[in-house]
Amino acid sequence: MSILAETMKKLHADNFAFYLKAHFYHWNIEDPNFKEYHNFLEEIYTLAFEDADSIAEHIRAIQDYAPGSLARFKELTTIVEDDIIPATGLAMFERLLADLELVCFSIMIAYNAANDANEIGLSNFLQDKYDARRKLAWMLRSTIKRH
Ligand SMILES: [Fe+2]
Repeated sequence: MSILAETMKKLHADNFAFYLKAHFYHWNIEDPNFKEYHNFLEEIYTLAFEDADSIAEHIRAIQDYAPGSLARFKELTTIVEDDIIPATGLAMFERLLADLELVCFSIMIAYNAANDANEIGLSNFLQDKYDARRKLAWMLRSTIKRH
């Protein structure tokens, strides 16, 4: 397996773990701002879910196979699942922000590997994914900021 494929599989697993956690929170949130937070969580998991397909297909395009089992994702990801449902929306957003930093780091690693392999289309794709997540990180930070 190429270094690039290895980095892309790790990114695929991190992105999927992030997706699943955001959807898990969407289902279970209880908060005075329920409606707003429930909808924000939907926006978050939709972004990650849509990107899961593109990330997997890029893995195929570089002639490797995309992981797709929960067991394999768990082996590959550094994102830790929750044992219990966080008590508030803000606690959920804090966790998602920390996990998003891990996803961003994985994108950076994959981007560097894509550049080294002269996969310029993939580099461009990863730049866009990074940018979308920096914007999401700003929205999460602004949601959890306490004055
Ligand atoms: Fe829903």
